[in-house]
Amino acid sequence: MNKADIYKIRDDFPILSREVFGNPLVYLDNAATTQKPQCVIDKITKMYCLENANVHRGVHFLSQAATDEHEASRRTVQKFINAASSNEIVFTRGATESINLVASSFCRKFCKEGDEILITAMEHHSNIVPWQMQCDYYGLKLKVAPINADGELLTDELSRMITPRTRLVSVTHVSNVLGTINPVDKIVKLSHAQNVPVLIDAAQSVQHCRVDVQQLDCDFLVFSSHKIYGPTGVGVLYGKERWLNDLPPYQGGGEMIESVSFDKTTFNSLPFKFEAGTPDFVGTAALAAALDYLTLIGIDKIAAYEHELLQYATEKLLSIPGLRIIGNAGEKSSVISFLVDGIHPYDIGTLLDKMGIAVRTGHHCAEPLMHELGIEGTVRASFAFYNTKEEADKLVKGVERIVKMFRNVKR
Ligand SMILES: Cc1ncc(COP(=O)(O)O)c(C=O)c1O
Repeated sequence: MNKADIYKIRDDFPILSREVFGNPLVYLDNAATTQKPQCVIDKITKMYCLENANVHRGVHFLSQAATDEHEASRRTVQKFINAASSNEIVFTRGATESINLVASSFCRKFCKEGDEILITAMEHHSNIVPWQMQCDYYGLKLKVAPINADGELLTDELSRMITPRTRLVSVTHVSNVLGTINPVDKIVKLSHAQNVPVLIDAAQSVQHCRVDVQQLDCDFLVFSSHKIYGPTGVGVLYGKERWLNDLPPYQGGGEMIESVSFDKTTFNSLPFKFEAGTPDFVGTAALAAALDYLTLIGIDKIAAYEHELLQYATEKLLSIPGLRIIGNAGEKSSVISFLVDGIHPYDIGTLLDKMGIAVRTGHHCAEPLMHELGIEGTVRASFAFYNTKEEADKLVKGVERIVKMFRNVKR
């Protein structure tokens, strides 16, 4: 994509033209959440203005229209990740809830004391704590595959850590801190060779590169709508039909049942078995609008442009004396975590904010990774396809200004 394409794309995102503290907004916190294109905002407005009625419940026109839209959205998600069937797409409230669903249902059905769950050292809290909770409850062991100094997963080590007691491997596709792209295809193959299913946390990958669940052959995959230009409050769980049929329901309530009596309840078919209560059908419609928008632009074009941005910003940032990048994997997504000698990340983040530049500081919900790296936190600039090289320049100039300020104060 050329400069003109990007500036045209930016016009689709109303928030990008606002100012912060008198400066044009430079939004570089896309790993936390992405901004929304007008088509997503319009879809939400249209749903509430024209199609608001509860789904799967009414015989009336509006309920049917909302149900049709909701189920069409499921098919859009199915197509986007190339799932074999729309029955394999479960709507949740986010990647976090999707992982909690699998952790809870899977461990209840398949795990007993002494069994093991294998994760990696670079997981987000969302892919640690749900497993830890199940481990505490059922007496399971949580094992953690290590990473090297560049922030790359040691896959051979991961393979060796799989034992006859390993019940599941749960691994992030892309690290939200290091940007590392894990070789999930290889991880699935080596885990399956030992008869162990794999969950992929795609919260930081589906928005950046093509994800094909049939090609990956993963057993479960999760992501959040709000990180892929859709609304908050919606998530996706993909599960192979075989697994989803085998797992017990996660939550009970309306929608997930076939029939209920005070003696016994029978459960609905897939995917409704896992969707208790009224779903966020406005949110799912808006997520589908976001996915259609990305498909129109082309996910491969997005991936190529974001890689260009990553290389550009990395090179420029590294020219700042005392700046070091945390996470130097060979395969990286457009996330740059960094530290500057003698300046606390929080100070950098706060001062950049005053220049209108939004970055994230802290442990990024990956405290165990911070301990592993021997640091308290980082500054994280995460790029989306609507970001520009000019914005990367502003970040670099901003950090240079801050470094100068601190050096002058110290003198
Ligand atoms: C890798 C990863 N997994 C899971 C999550 C959780 O996503 P959510 O808070 O949308 O449920 C995040 C959020 O930052 C993430 O980066």
